[in-house]
Amino acid sequence: MGIVLKGGKIVTAVDTYESDIRIEGEKVISIGKDLEKEGDEIISVEGCYLLPGAIDPHTHFDLDTGSTVTADDFCSGTKAAIIGGTTTILDFATQNKGESLKEGLNNWHKKADNKSYCDYGFHMAITDWNEKVCAEMEDMIKEGVPSFKMYMAYKNTLQVDDGSIFSALRKGKEIGALIGFHCENGDVIDTLVKEAKNNGNIHPRYHAITRPAAAEREAISRVIQLAEMADSPVYIVHLSTKDGLESIIDGKKRGIKVYSETCPQYLLLDDSCYESEEGSFNGAKYVMSPPLRKDIDKDALWRGIQNSEIDTIATDHCSFNYKGQKDMGIDDFSKIPNGAPGVEHRLSLLYTNGVVNGKITINDLVALTSTNAAKLFGLFPQKGTIAVGCDADIVVLNPKERWMVSAENQTQRVDYTPYEGFEQEGRIKDVFLRGKQVVRDSKIVTEEPVGKYIPRKSLLEKGE
Ligand code: URP
Ligand code: ZN
Repeated sequence: MGIVLKGGKIVTAVDTYESDIRIEGEKVISIGKDLEKEGDEIISVEGCYLLPGAIDPHTHFDLDTGSTVTADDFCSGTKAAIIGGTTTILDFATQNKGESLKEGLNNWHKKADNKSYCDYGFHMAITDWNEKVCAEMEDMIKEGVPSFKMYMAYKNTLQVDDGSIFSALRKGKEIGALIGFHCENGDVIDTLVKEAKNNGNIHPRYHAITRPAAAEREAISRVIQLAEMADSPVYIVHLSTKDGLESIIDGKKRGIKVYSETCPQYLLLDDSCYESEEGSFNGAKYVMSPPLRKDIDKDALWRGIQNSEIDTIATDHCSFNYKGQKDMGIDDFSKIPNGAPGVEHRLSLLYTNGVVNGKITINDLVALTSTNAAKLFGLFPQKGTIAVGCDADIVVLNPKERWMVSAENQTQRVDYTPYEGFEQEGRIKDVFLRGKQVVRDSKIVTEEPVGKYIPRKSLLEKGE
């Protein structure tokens, strides 16, 4: 017995066409007309788009920052993901100082296994580089973790030095791993933060002032040069500036394999969010790293997307409640936990503000939120497209329904959304995860956390 989705318009990164889909078990079995077999459930999706399940390659669920833990864990975060059409997330398993990568990975499995409502994988964030860790990178690939991350920011905690970056890139090249980098110059930021506080500047707006665009540009151009010396590909996470994008374009022109990701917050919001009424702490809601930027940066990022210079749009979902968490920094902006929610609304925000507003095509939307991440991170063709044989991760989007984003009716477990009041045109109606309907009429219909761990292929296994 299967399921037939009837009367919809299938969208992939390259095609849009009217056709039915038949699902059996976890897979798409056939695409075409007159597919029904006896006993099949027929679901009418007339007038709707059928998109491949979205992939968010950048989330932080159940992350302990040292001073607090993210508001969303894997249970609430993946529920929010699935209701927003994201059927796979890649979270950052993070090595604590002194820990092996294996310990870091085990910790993240404990957080995610049997608690997730969408499928998931992990990147491994390396914070303590040494020869043992270098050797362990190969073990990670055997565990289905062929991607890593290093931080060039967060001095004295997560930040690693250039020697470690270079060595990791060389090892990555040897074993077929892709390494992502948080590109901000942590030393410069540390100096600026100390200076601001010494001058009594404690308002949330100083979070942005002490993390200038040049700190991102410098780190991006440095890591690209390190990648060139290591003869390695490199992935830039959460790109936020025009200048950073220019460094990426320059690196690509020099033949270096530079891939990049941006996020809805850098496309839809700007640093005026830090300037709320006098005496207000509201700007803390937007304290994230990198910070929100200027209009000129937003415009450049949209152009980068249109010119295929940016590969993916992730969320960097890292949620903290305004009351009880963000307010730890009421007297000191540097104590505001960094990060904001977004996993629930990415697809919808980009459909409305990208596709409906004519900035990108619906095929671009699929490429940026699903296919490109699947290809880069070793999930394709199991995930990232709609084709016979792939996982039946399918999002039914009703382009006619209008609604409004609001914390009041969100699933993510946090007391605000940066997109409060954003009008949406087009709503995710149904979601199928490996053939199982998990969202019906915009409501979760599974009691059980049915998401599973998806081991991924390395660049070598993909033949790259
Ligand atoms: O502000 C952010 N982005 N917090 C999450 C950690 C990171 O920097 O990605
Ligand atoms: Zn992040």
